[in-house]
Amino acid sequence: MAISFAGFMALALYHEEFGYYSVPATRQIGRKGDFFTSVSVGETFGFLLAHRIRGEAGARFDASEPVFVIEQGAHDGQLAIDILRGWDEISAQSGDQGCELRYRIIEPREKVRAALCERFTTEGFEDRIEVVASAGEAGAGQGVFLCNELLDAFPVEILTFRDGRWLEKVVTIDEAEDKLAWGTRELPDALKPFAEKLGNDFPEGYETEVCPAIDEWVPEVATLFSGKGLWWVIDYGYEAADYYAPSRRTGTLRCYRKHEATEDPFEAVGDTDITAHVNFSHLEEAAAAGGLALNQFTDQHHFLIHAAKPWLLSIEGEVPDRATAARLRQFQTLTHPSLMGQQFKVMELENEGMRE
Ligand SMILES: C[S@@+](CC[C@H](N)C(=O)[O-])C[C@H]1O[C@@H](n2cnc3c(N)ncnc32)[C@H](O)[C@@H]1O
Repeated sequence: MAISFAGFMALALYHEEFGYYSVPATRQIGRKGDFFTSVSVGETFGFLLAHRIRGEAGARFDASEPVFVIEQGAHDGQLAIDILRGWDEISAQSGDQGCELRYRIIEPREKVRAALCERFTTEGFEDRIEVVASAGEAGAGQGVFLCNELLDAFPVEILTFRDGRWLEKVVTIDEAEDKLAWGTRELPDALKPFAEKLGNDFPEGYETEVCPAIDEWVPEVATLFSGKGLWWVIDYGYEAADYYAPSRRTGTLRCYRKHEATEDPFEAVGDTDITAHVNFSHLEEAAAAGGLALNQFTDQHHFLIHAAKPWLLSIEGEVPDRATAARLRQFQTLTHPSLMGQQFKVMELENEGMRE
């Protein structure tokens, strides 16, 4: 018996009862969890995204219509809360409410939707954040779609180069030891286009990942906005030339537990995060096929520094109080090239409406 690695990863992360992400409230992200994300650094990430959304709303969206933020991969909803609080703070400080901002979260799992709604009700956001089950229900006029570290959690397939050809790495059971084990099999038709694209100039034993889930996901979200739409995909990853560099012999698959990285996804299944870097060239191609054009591909450092300009100007020359000092520390973590600034990338895509 063998199953594809993507099938195994989907179960390990998303099985309704035993999956790593089945109950976000029990999967704290940050110091007490298994890994950090920009959201877990603190509220500054959402605050800066609120600034960036405000800038776009003023410059490129129709101010007389509401602007929608649609998020997927929201986990426990922290980023939504941080963005809305940031938006309110900017409004209060500038004395200008700005346009009407509405927030929608796409969350396909019923249990996770219920947990999100409960949190938003407890924290007084139930009228401002809507949680829907699919992209089909999230459709809006104009706005920004965003996801932070969603795509690195998409199930991937693993290819391995043996004797001059690509094989698929699969998950089997070692009957003698009664445990999960690796196997290989000939490529199924669905993976052949990925292998053809890679070519055959790879060293023996080379392993890498491909993510067919990107091709299924892009068409779901590419038509979210009937009018002007921007898409911000924030994640770690590389362009194809770097992702598939011959020197990257063991791919990018990593497992995280209590801030320790391993490469063994069969250890503590359901209690360990499994992730792979994003191939941004693949995303760009899939987006183009779905009618979205690349506006910019940059790193988090540049994206957030641009977003932070109005805030940095507003505190220039002041002695920072405790809250501002904390925000400045978080800002440094998010943007410093040796911390999160360079590792995280932002792909900004836009639809036809944005170019009219
Ligand atoms: C690495 S975590 C990032 C969480 C959060 N965005 C952050 O930055 O802290 C990935 C999240 O994406 C969620 N996720 C994965 N596939 C999803 C999908 N198809 N729709 C909605 N959420 C998804 C997972 O449940 C998990 O909460």
